[in-house]
Amino acid sequence: MALLPILTAPDPRLKQKAARVEAVDDSVRLLMEDMLETMYQAPGIGLAAPQVGVQRRIIVVDIGKSEEDRQPIRMANPEIVWVSEDDNTYEEGCLSVPEHYAEVVRPRAIRVRYLDEQNEIREMEADGLLATVLQHEMDHLEGILFIDHLSSLKRNMILRKLLKSKKEAVAVR
Ligand code: NI
Repeated sequence: MALLPILTAPDPRLKQKAARVEAVDDSVRLLMEDMLETMYQAPGIGLAAPQVGVQRRIIVVDIGKSEEDRQPIRMANPEIVWVSEDDNTYEEGCLSVPEHYAEVVRPRAIRVRYLDEQNEIREMEADGLLATVLQHEMDHLEGILFIDHLSSLKRNMILRKLLKSKKEAVAVR
């Protein structure tokens, strides 16, 4: 397995729509494992393929609280087939938007249809934190970041700060 470099905003590759996976084969399974390793190491609770520069509809999620409690979820071509009428608000962050957090409102519960790591079609119902993380990661496949759910004022403030820290990082190298 390998650690993959994570892209950070602003980056045009994070704004692209990812392509569907034809079938979950060995190369997709390997990518899923590398994404999980990268996510655990970051550490984070979700990662989408576009965040590691791969424009394919693949996400991994694990909201387990500790290393002993790992519950990795691997999905290809996830689609939401049902959402609850009521919403939840969580403070979200993102490995591609380092050190910035903001409250985002999303449906409280969802049902997702996807291909699992054996290329089988499955459905999963999720609510609470898991529902939010899955929606956040699926957004990445559309080129949407959590900051796109904020006001343009807040979003631009965060993007300017990220751009500034990127420039500073280049300058000290
Ligand atoms: Ni994210």
